[in-house]
Amino acid sequence: MFQRQIFLVGLIVSALFLSLSSKQAYAEEQPIAFSHKLHTVQNGIACQYCHLYARRSFTSGVPPVSTCIGCHGPQEQKLVQPESVEVNKMRDYWAKGEPIPWVKIHDIPDFVRFPHKEHINADSNRFVDDAGAGCDPENAPRSLECKLAQFRTGGDERCLSCHGDVRQMDVIKQVDENFGAMGWCMECHLQVKGAKERKRTDNTLDGWYHAKEMDAKREVAIGLVNEKGYHNPNMLDCYTCHY
Ligand code: HEC
Ligand code: HEC
Ligand code: HEC
Ligand code: HEC
Ligand code: HEC
Repeated sequence: MFQRQIFLVGLIVSALFLSLSSKQAYAEEQPIAFSHKLHTVQNGIACQYCHLYARRSFTSGVPPVSTCIGCHGPQEQKLVQPESVEVNKMRDYWAKGEPIPWVKIHDIPDFVRFPHKEHINADSNRFVDDAGAGCDPENAPRSLECKLAQFRTGGDERCLSCHGDVRQMDVIKQVDENFGAMGWCMECHLQVKGAKERKRTDNTLDGWYHAKEMDAKREVAIGLVNEKGYHNPNMLDCYTCHY
């Protein structure tokens, strides 16, 4: 009995610790001083030039050393930044044939399904009509309105909607304190057409077929079904995000 209490107290303390530590927006020192600001703003390189898997797979991933070598060149053939200590660190990894041990900053638990590709390719017309209106980029750049406005713009702008203004970062950091929390996801999913209406079918098969038969046209109108006749993902349902 006594042992069980100690166990429970331990559990609560560690849960508290975990929840406190995971709430912090954070950055880490990286093995090479790679600056997003320098590459994307000063040198105009597109996000998806380096993160080319974002629109093709679950993970965006970080680029392999060969991507860096493509511009900077190896030891023997130095191209861009021939004499830079930081770039030379990268050339050393290339020479050794080793990946650069970047520290992962944005991470959500493995029991959650987050596909980058569906988000990068999602049609902006799926949002309720005024979603994103009233964005005030000066005073509240991380408001829901601004995130939606960026998301709707599409392309690389869409990355900033979730990751913040990466173009101004020398060191990558997580900008939203609640990044990747369930509420963080839901807040946006609620702005997708049909999210709530679909909920009203009670998510039972009967309710669903009923709604379908009764009101096929209305379904299309509120965006439950897309132009190709496919049912759109159910934005609020547990099984959409949980395995
Ligand atoms: C598309 C070309 C391109 C790619 C790809 C690229 N870089 Fe660069 N990098 C540049 C340019 C251009 C500069 C800046 C040159 C300047 O402004 O003087 C630069 C600057 C740097 C610097 C700053 C060097 C200094 O001392 O000021 C580092 C470090 C760096 N890159 C690392 C990397 C790493 C690591 C990768 C791979 C993840 C990479 N770069 C990929 C073009 C590229
Ligand atoms: C020249 C290649 C290059 C370009 C261009 C680039 N990135 Fe990156 N990105 C990297 C590398 C390398 C890392 C890993 C090192 C780091 O975290 O700084 C990274 C890391 C990240 C991370 C953090 C990953 C994590 O650990 O959670 C995000 C988010 C990100 N990039 C978004 C973007 C966005 C948005 C843009 C466009 C505005 C962009 N990147 C442009 C190379 C690039
Ligand atoms: C709808 C929100 C959202 C959008 C839009 C988005 N990301 Fe992410 N990104 C995330 C989440 C959530 C994670 C953490 C995923 C995980 O841990 O499984 C993440 C992780 C990353 C990582 C770390 C490596 C990885 O793949 O887990 C990189 C790099 C990254 N994103 C880059 C990008 C780039 C580049 C874009 C735009 C082309 C982009 N992201 C658009 C939410 C988003
Ligand atoms: C800024 C808005 C936004 C945020 C934040 C966001 N999503 Fe989404 N999500 C969307 C949109 C838009 C779609 C696509 C709807 C469509 O294509 O019909 C989508 C679709 C999905 C899908 C369905 C993919 C499919 O087609 O099967 C999953 C799973 C998903 N999101 C998970 C997440 C998770 C997990 C998070 C939080 C870590 C998250 N989303 C955060 C906007 C967002
Ligand atoms: C849009 C995506 C999304 C949907 C839909 C969703 N979840 Fe989650 N859920 C998440 C994310 C992301 C986390 C991880 C939260 C974190 O790390 O703080 C999570 C965490 C959880 C947890 C663990 C909580 C914790 O503190 O560890 C439970 C339990 C859970 N979800 C249940 C549900 C149930 C039940 C539903 C349906 C009513 C649901 N989820 C729908 C994204 C979603």
